Amino acid sequence: MSIHEMRKSYSMAGLAKSDVHADPMVQFLRWFEEAQQPDLPDWMEVNAMTLATADPEGKVTSRVVLLKGIESGRLCFYTNYESEKGQQIAVNPQVSLCFFWGHLQRQVRIEGSVEQSARSKSVDYFHSRPRESQLGAHVSRQSSVIDSSQSLEEQFTALESKYHQQEIPCPKHWGGYEVEPTRVEFWQGRPGRLHDRICYRRDGEQWQLSRLSP
Ligand SMILES: Cc1cc2nc3c(=O)[nH]c(=O)nc-3n(C[C@H](O)[C@H](O)[C@H](O)COP(=O)(O)O)c2cc1C
Repeated sequence: MSIHEMRKSYSMAGLAKSDVHADPMVQFLRWFEEAQQPDLPDWMEVNAMTLATADPEGKVTSRVVLLKGIESGRLCFYTNYESEKGQQIAVNPQVSLCFFWGHLQRQVRIEGSVEQSARSKSVDYFHSRPRESQLGAHVSRQSSVIDSSQSLEEQFTALESKYHQQEIPCPKHWGGYEVEPTRVEFWQGRPGRLHDRICYRRDGEQWQLSRLSP
């Protein structure tokens, strides 16, 4: 099938203002639970989200990261603070997140500001990861140019021996970020491209709800 012939009609569900919770993160958790269906294929990671960051000149980049928790309404992910995304966040903390749950014909878009997690939280989470992921975080200078994967493998093996049967310290350049949402949009696909879009905007301590044109 050619690309221009690819299209689907969306008719699984609708979404009205009266359906959603007043708190967007409660609504998010409802949809997140619904997205975790038992018959999903193994490769499907419902906590995968596209993170967009930008530098002050307006150069935008996006990539997938994994949601690793929601606390006090803030969404947490872990990464390398010196990566391209980390460097952009350091100078411009405005980010957006996008979840696409195609099996439910749903999308959630979140915008907000981001800051680094408390160090103790990052260190605790680091130690909960498999040892090979911990070693990988030490070895990878994420986003920098390298000649081959061989030197990574050599460093990995050397660190494996160095920390044999010892706790692997959490590298300073690695940790969590927390996104504080200021805008959250729930999108439900509808027939005829007349999709339902319910948007929350933060207004002081309150959230203002509106319906957007598809
Ligand atoms: C399904 C999936 C999950 C990923 N999860 C993470 C993650 O949680 N943290 C992370 O740093 N990179 C993750 N990545 C890799 C990123 O997409 C990206 O390649 C990396 O963070 C470097 O991005 P940057 O160069 O823009 O900083 C994941 C990629 C995929 C496809």
